[in-house]
Amino acid sequence: MAYLGGKATSSQHIIKILNNKIFNGMPYIEPFVGYAHILRRITGKSSYKASDSNTLLMVLLKHIQKSKEHLSVSADEYKLLRSHPEIDPLKAAYAAFTYSYNGKYFAGYTGNSRSLISRPRNYPAERKRYYNKLHDNETFSSCTLKTGSYKMYTPENTRNSLIYCDPPYAGTAEYKNSFNSDGLWNWVRSMSSSPANNFVFVSEYSAPEDFVCVAQQTKHQSIAGRGATRKREEIVFVHKSLVHTPEIAAVRQDLTSNKSYSCNKTRKNSNKN
Ligand SMILES: C[S@@+](CC[C@H](N)C(=O)[O-])C[C@H]1O[C@@H](n2cnc3c(N)ncnc32)[C@H](O)[C@@H]1O
Repeated sequence: MAYLGGKATSSQHIIKILNNKIFNGMPYIEPFVGYAHILRRITGKSSYKASDSNTLLMVLLKHIQKSKEHLSVSADEYKLLRSHPEIDPLKAAYAAFTYSYNGKYFAGYTGNSRSLISRPRNYPAERKRYYNKLHDNETFSSCTLKTGSYKMYTPENTRNSLIYCDPPYAGTAEYKNSFNSDGLWNWVRSMSSSPANNFVFVSEYSAPEDFVCVAQQTKHQSIAGRGATRKREEIVFVHKSLVHTPEIAAVRQDLTSNKSYSCNKTRKNSNKN
């Protein structure tokens, strides 16, 4: 099931970087955890912390960590919870994601689909099966989950850790004007340099000039219209100050065996800092 940035598929290059044995035993932090498609595949770290600014998403993830009992939401309840999530935050979380079109936050009710042209699908049931898989996942179940902005991690409280960021892509429709990408790049600069000395990897389509591609993969995104897709190059960036470390050298060495992850395709920079 692919949603919230589609990391359910085509993310093997990211996993290969984060699970490189050079990072074994480090604390792992994921500040934009979404549905934990990356987090659940991370292994070998000393501890796991994940967070997201979406309050209902974190209500859902914390519930999945504790339980395999899932809630059902009717179309009428959906309408009510969309405007009054405070009535029942857990049910509102199921409405917002499990019962929403494409798993996107209150993007329209989806129950059982009864398509005349294709096999009927029960999206909420598929999602609940994924939640059970997450519940059983060792990394997810041992992870400390928090609600809040990525800014809760600072150079004072977070050092010598491996950090993976999968932020809202700059300029995407749902986050237009609400996510400050420049602010994120400034935060990555401060978290990557001394005294914080974290290894921070960021997935984006483009980055400022002082960031360097470590791996790149072509993504086929669906766009409006039946079956239509477009190709985009999704890049994993690090700050240039890390490029000459043995860790990034090891990551790059490991990736050279797979040419489809190479960074030699056209590079676009979003802004000049
Ligand atoms: C592209 S999605 C992450 C997808 C995730 N990798 C997955 O496996 O599903 C981006 C996430 O960033 C979260 N987000 C948006 N603004 C944020 C902020 N300022 N701080 C932390 N999380 C934020 C959104 O709620 C969303 O879950």
